[in-house]
Amino acid sequence: MGGGGKHSVTFGPDGEQIFVRPGTTLLEASRRAGAKVRTRCGGVAGCLMCKIHVSEDQADRLQPPTTAEIRKLGSLLGQGVRLSCQARTRGDVVVSIPEDPLKAAIRKRLAEQEEDDWLI
Ligand code: FES
Repeated sequence: MGGGGKHSVTFGPDGEQIFVRPGTTLLEASRRAGAKVRTRCGGVAGCLMCKIHVSEDQADRLQPPTTAEIRKLGSLLGQGVRLSCQARTRGDVVVSIPEDPLKAAIRKRLAEQEEDDWLI
């Protein structure tokens, strides 16, 4: 614990950390931390774009999955995926935001190019 009864939320991989009131959703925490969690539905468990990864040892730092999360995520829940608009803190937690698929593709392409340059 820390921050005077507040919970810390740390967003990987860049590591922005913020202190929030217990029970704050990860989506709200991410907004305040300036971390980029994507959303299209405005936080009503509709778009599934706000998925976030929580490692096994961090899982109990969040409140248990909501009915909406269980319905929408199914077996992904068992793989440490949560919906950040639904998951609320109940302790200091470290989560990681999956990379934007488009950005990941660009990064991969750049890495390949670098490799090509290296070979010339
Ligand atoms: S913000 Fe759309 S599902 Fe969470």
